[in-house]
Amino acid sequence: MAPISRRQFILGTTLAGVNLLPTGQLIPKAIGAELVRPDYMIRASTNENPWGPSRVALQAILDSVKKSNLYSGDRRKLGELLAEINNIPQDHVTVGTGSGEILRTAALLANMEDGSIVAPDPTYHDLIRYAERAGSTIIRVPVNHETKEIDLNALYKAIRHDTRCVYLANPNNPIPSIIEKSSLKDFVTEVSKKCMVFVDEAYFEFVEDPVYESMMGLVRNEHQNVIVARTASKIHGLAGLRVGFGFAHPDIIKRINSAKTGALNVLGINAAIASYQDKEFQNFTIRKNKESLRMVEDLFDSLNVRYIKSHANFTFLHTGRDIQKVRREFYDEGIMVGRPFPPMTDWLRVSMGKPHEMEYFVQTYQKLMG
Ligand SMILES: Cc1ncc(COP(=O)(O)O)c(C=O)c1O
Repeated sequence: MAPISRRQFILGTTLAGVNLLPTGQLIPKAIGAELVRPDYMIRASTNENPWGPSRVALQAILDSVKKSNLYSGDRRKLGELLAEINNIPQDHVTVGTGSGEILRTAALLANMEDGSIVAPDPTYHDLIRYAERAGSTIIRVPVNHETKEIDLNALYKAIRHDTRCVYLANPNNPIPSIIEKSSLKDFVTEVSKKCMVFVDEAYFEFVEDPVYESMMGLVRNEHQNVIVARTASKIHGLAGLRVGFGFAHPDIIKRINSAKTGALNVLGINAAIASYQDKEFQNFTIRKNKESLRMVEDLFDSLNVRYIKSHANFTFLHTGRDIQKVRREFYDEGIMVGRPFPPMTDWLRVSMGKPHEMEYFVQTYQKLMG
């Protein structure tokens, strides 16, 4: 028998039975069979939820369309629901047009006090970029050279007398790593005595590792200078409707509320109210995300590709190549992958699509990079 190539082996293990592509084409079950390129672009670039919105959220959106003449919806009800789910008083919650609004408002508040912001590098750009444009000094602290994890000791050392805010995304983005819970809790407790600590938990629902813990407990315990952000954009698949949340001491919530500039709409509010009560869809998303992740991580393992173990809905891998070029090549094959993330410009971020889309990614990766 002819030896089975690595590529054939990987495709053979993922193709079971007869697959049906979204185009309606039947793919024969055969080891090494080529997957046909879908007739749409696969979005593996912006960490969206390929399954969302859920059926109940869609129904809520449809029911709300006729209320589009209204300026807004029952924002208070949404805030109450999030307070209840997170076991926190309602005056500790603010609702924003995406967590992006909470991030940018925090940046604005920090900038009003004129000083610096400390953040890991690389990390999610929203708060940092906004603060920088508003005039804040940004102190970027490289992630650990070896592990690519956020380096809390280095962050601590980087804090200056004029530092107004320390920003942490946990899990981080574009690096899907997490911070060990007790060192994070110590760090946040200590640093929040000096300045604001913003903990962005956009991907927290995806994390299953027991070393992880949300910092919501610190907010619950009335820590004065801690903001935790969450979003309906990821696990709930509502990115386009712009709904997110900030949790903090009521004094901070009041300041955020007075500086926010966005306005939620009735579709987003009602979709989020429905979706946050729909545990089934969240579990489904987690399960499917794991399926997709396992497929790409198995591929990287088999090819000895360096990647960061993911605790979110995307992977981050070393290519040793210019990502702009890699991106173009994937685009030409029908897949949109992540942009370059300086300073790690030869690392590639790939967001998880549906498992059959990631099968096609696996095949394409081997064609282009294998
Ligand atoms: C870490 C992190 N925080 C916040 C956001 C923005 O989320 P939202 O859609 O709620 O503004 C993202 C989006 O990718 C993210 O990666």
